[in-house]
Parts: sequence; structure tokens; C-alpha cells
Amino acid sequence: MSQKATMIVDKDFVISSIDDRIYGSFIEHLGRAVYGGIYEPGHPASDERGFRKDVLSLIQDLRVPIIRYPGGNFVSGYDWKDGIGPKDKRPSRLELAWRTVEPNQFGLNEFVDWSRIAGTDVMWAINLGTHGVDEARNIVEYANHSSGSYWSDMRISHGYAKPHGIKTWCLGNEMDGPWQIGAKTAVEYGRIAAESAKVMKWVDPSIELVACGSSGKGMATYPEWEATVLDHTYDHVEFLSLHTYYGNHDNDTATFLGRSLEMEDFIRSVVATCDYIKAKKRSKKTMQLSFDEWNVWFHSNNADKKIEPWQIAPPQLEDVYTMEDALVVGCLLIALLKNSDRVKMACLAQLVNVIAPIMTENGGPAWAQTIYYPYMHASVFGRGQALVPLVQSPKYDTKEITDIPYLESIAVYNEDAKEVTVFAVNRDLTNALPLEVDLRSFGGACGIIEHIVLENEDLKATNTASQPNRIQPNANGNARAEGSKINATLSKASWNVIRIRL
Ligand code: AHR
Repeated sequence: MSQKATMIVDKDFVISSIDDRIYGSFIEHLGRAVYGGIYEPGHPASDERGFRKDVLSLIQDLRVPIIRYPGGNFVSGYDWKDGIGPKDKRPSRLELAWRTVEPNQFGLNEFVDWSRIAGTDVMWAINLGTHGVDEARNIVEYANHSSGSYWSDMRISHGYAKPHGIKTWCLGNEMDGPWQIGAKTAVEYGRIAAESAKVMKWVDPSIELVACGSSGKGMATYPEWEATVLDHTYDHVEFLSLHTYYGNHDNDTATFLGRSLEMEDFIRSVVATCDYIKAKKRSKKTMQLSFDEWNVWFHSNNADKKIEPWQIAPPQLEDVYTMEDALVVGCLLIALLKNSDRVKMACLAQLVNVIAPIMTENGGPAWAQTIYYPYMHASVFGRGQALVPLVQSPKYDTKEITDIPYLESIAVYNEDAKEVTVFAVNRDLTNALPLEVDLRSFGGACGIIEHIVLENEDLKATNTASQPNRIQPNANGNARAEGSKINATLSKASWNVIRIRL
């Protein structure tokens, strides 16, 4: 065993009330996310609208509060009008972002219907690649205006008498990336984003808007992009976006597990940039962050290079996730919660088949990948207040990252349920880690509801169609309460959820 780690959980040291939308996700018209994922007419598990009920049930268990849609890179060439009205009149289009054919059999109204069943809100991304201010106001009018105008009456004629009431809108996607259809300089984007935001809010003043930050910390224009974009958009938007993906290309698991430290660093520097513009503008408003694409993404990179272009829904970005990926996702979730004072929305990218916690076979089963479990645990048990993790932990260094604590953890206090949940990853690949949690500020004795553990001897183990349950959480953790202290042994390379009754 390595040395012990300790954690003081004090109800007076609050980072923030966690905005539920931090547990959001993302569905793009990409690969088999929509066609063969959430929508597959004729599948034995599909309803009369073609919505796969087996997939919906896995999503409902995740309690996903909000889903970003319809892209992603896809959105920058997308005409939302192609996806409304009678299906037999909708065009098939060449989709240039992912080099496929988009049949447009699923669009805005289908997604709104589907999201209601999934129990989630919609975060709609508008096209600011090939579209502009006019389409920006039109789509808000179609979706949210009650009646008596061209676009709202068209929605009614499509069978939707009531407005959809979509509250959250992204102003384009990754507009700094040269791979983006209609990519822009920061000034070009800042201007079009500000003007679009203005008219969108003139149509519906109740909406909230997300401006595009950099598509990653590695972009040459980061963080100047953020500063310039905010210079133009600060008064018009509520959120700035961040995106990041991590991989284990060199099979250096110790470093891979430390990547969440980089995510935190990234968040802090974007916060600093937002606050610089706030000061520069003498503004009273604080810009919040929408980390609306984050995940592990690397397994499918080579396979994707071999996919023939211009197919409908080919198997793109189908990462099969390992046990160690689940640990990284656990660390990334904890990183988001540690910064929940500014990260108010976040989207695990993506939700089904495309770098996703849920996989399906066309005509076949649906199952949960390894990363499904930390995401589900955080979303289900991580509602309430994030408490400052006062942690002492032994640390390790790798060639790339130093001072990585073996213990990554955070506690969430749910006052209504009178529960504290500790989420903890032991990054030590060879040794168990004894953990002592001190809950003295809550006064009185506490008890363990359950100690859930996700672990496997083989860090490369996966869940597949033939072995869908190889990696599954168990409730065999040994956390025990003594007065106001909890002691537990965190198995090597494990994800832990310790639920404590106060
Ligand atoms: O999520 C996959 C892709 O990653 C998205 O389309 C894009 O926004 C990002 O580069």
C-alpha cells in the first residue's frame, strides 16, 4: 500500500452550487450517433417514430440534463430547414465536415420530440459557418415564437402548435479551426456572433447564448481568440465555450491519468481571460463557461482514415473505451466539479456511438461502455453543492506532468437528501490507497449508504456487444464510518463513489 491520503469535507467551504447542466452531453449528425444510434426506424426496439427505446432507457438512467445538437463540425454547413416538414420532401445533401451523405430524416422537431422522452433540454447550435444573421433570427422564430409570423406559423403547420421554448443556443462551433466550414478570424467571428446574438434575443429575450472559445488549448490563436471574441460579444452572451479531448497515444497511462490537471489549468486560464475582458469593459457581468465538448478520443483515429466518403451514417469515431479511459473520464468529471463556480454547463462528447458512453449495433443491441459508469454516478449522485477538496495525497511525476496526486477527489453535499457523496479516483496503478475522510463540520456520526467501485485487473478491458457487462461497478467497497470519520481502501486504479448519510 502507498501512504495514506486524507480529505477534510467541510460544509462551509463551498465552491458553488452545481448547475445540473454540468452533466450535459452532445449528439451530432456524425457517424451513427443519430442514424442507427438514437433513431432507427424498423429496429425491434424502436417506437412508431423510429426512436430506439433501448437507447432511450440507457440515456434516461444517466439523467442527462441538456444535450447539444446538431453539431459539432456538422453544423457549420447545415441548413436547419432541410430537416423540417414532410420527410419525403427533405433533401439528401453532401455533408462536407465528415464527408458523408446527410438524408435529413431526423431534424429539429424530431430532436425536440426525442429530447422530451429522454428527459433532457435542448442546447441548439446554429450555423455560423455558411449561415449568418438572417438564419439565426429565423430559427429562433421557428422554434420559439408562439404564432402569427412566417416561421412560427410554418412550425404550427408542421404539427407543433406550441413553441419549443429552446432556451440555450450555441453561436456556431469551433469557428477558429481551419477544418471548420466557413472558419473565421476572431474579429470576423466576434462580429457575426454579436450581431446574431442581438437579433436572436430580439426575437426571444429569454434565451441564453454561448460564444465559441478556442477549439482547444493547443490552437495557435488561443487565448487571444477568447479575448477578441469576448471584446465583441461580452454584452450579448452568457457563456464562452471550451473544448478538449485527451488520448493515450503513447500508452503512458500514468500521464494519461494526469491529464485532468491540464483540463483544470485550461479552465483557469479561460476564466482569467474572461475576467480580463470584464475588467477592461468595466462590466458587472461575470462570464460563465460552457465546457461543451470534453472526453477521451483517440482509439478510432486510424480506423476513421479508412472509411469511404459519401456514405450515410458510416461507423465514424467509434472509440471502444477501456477501463483506464473510465478512470480518466472520472478525473475529468472531478476537474469540472472543482471548477463549478465558473463551469456551469458541460457536455460529454458525445452520447451514442460517436466517442460515446453508449454503443449500439444497427438492428442489434445497445450497451454501456466503461465511461458510462463514472458519468452516470456523477450525474445521479453529484447534485448539490461542490465542496472544496482539502486533500493531502502522495504524488507522482511523469516526464510530461509533475505533482500528480494519486488521489483525485471531490465531495458533493446534497442538503435535501442529507447526503455527502465523495467521488474519488486512485491513480496509483500498482497500490491501493488508504483514504480517511473527515466530516467533522457536519456534527455527529455518519453512516455509509454504499461504496461503489469500478475497477478491473486489465486496464485495457472493454465492454463490447458480445461482452457488454465485462466492466461494471460493484458495491463492494470497504468504506466504513467511525463517528464523523470515514475510512476506505481505494483499490489500485479505481473509480469510487462513497455515499455518506449524515
Ligand atoms: O465531437 C467530435 C468533433 O470534435 C466535433 O464535431 C467538433 O466540434 C470537434 O472538433
